[in-house]
Amino acid sequence: MQDVEKKVGEAVEFVKSKAPFLPDRAIILGTGLGSVASDLKNAFSIPYEEISHFPRSTVESHEGKLIFGLWNDVPVVAMKGRFHLYEGYSPHEIAFPVRVLRLIGVNILLISNAAGGLNPLFEPADLMLIVDHINFTGRNPLMGPNVDRWGPRFPDMTEPYSRRLQKIALDIARERRITLHRGVYAGVLGPSMETAAETRMLRAFGADAVGMSTVMEVITAVHMGMEVLALSVITNVNRPDCYEPAPLEQVIATAEKAAPRLMELFSELVKKA
Ligand code: 6GU
Repeated sequence: MQDVEKKVGEAVEFVKSKAPFLPDRAIILGTGLGSVASDLKNAFSIPYEEISHFPRSTVESHEGKLIFGLWNDVPVVAMKGRFHLYEGYSPHEIAFPVRVLRLIGVNILLISNAAGGLNPLFEPADLMLIVDHINFTGRNPLMGPNVDRWGPRFPDMTEPYSRRLQKIALDIARERRITLHRGVYAGVLGPSMETAAETRMLRAFGADAVGMSTVMEVITAVHMGMEVLALSVITNVNRPDCYEPAPLEQVIATAEKAAPRLMELFSELVKKA
């Protein structure tokens, strides 16, 4: 057995021994969207630092924990605090929690992130359903020996974002009159934002939004056969020929403005998925 498999196995045993129940659906929330934790009923938390081999959160997001609870009467586990390549985490560290979730029994993964809009029809605080991605990080969580028990060496990427879940999300959005764009997410390394030339390039390459998260987790999840749904909150719109800075405060404020709509969508999704 490979070292990584053993470490993930130890973390899985620990989480299983503590968790009040083992949900089949998990949520990973992005910047400015952490409020779901307070919506969970009968919540039970496991701090990341108690879980063997789990990556440690940096000071910035020091409240790292897995939260088990009922959302809309459905058992879920939420990751509060996530890991980004730009913080210095390796692709394998970012993959670790996703693997643990899979092996405790999660098979549906809902992810949200904050992203810059590239599609000129998008407005700040809009929501975008991710239908595909471009991994522009130059990194991959599956680098190195493959654990065949987890998934194939060359995982298929024709449908990384479940069409079944996309349809459910679009139906919910229609019913509730929430505008939900569909688009391609370009995942970049960061932490520097895009230059105007990079923005133009990403748009020309077919991306509708750009951000610094999500692709590592999605690749890991797809490798292990999970069904994934991901949403971007468009926090600012990148217009290369009228280029404006997107300060973090603004990104967070806009994400918070969109949070109630995102939460409405996700809370229905966990029930209908
Ligand atoms: Cl404009 N770029 C990137 N890379 N990430 C973002 C963003 C922009 N806005 C929010 N997150």
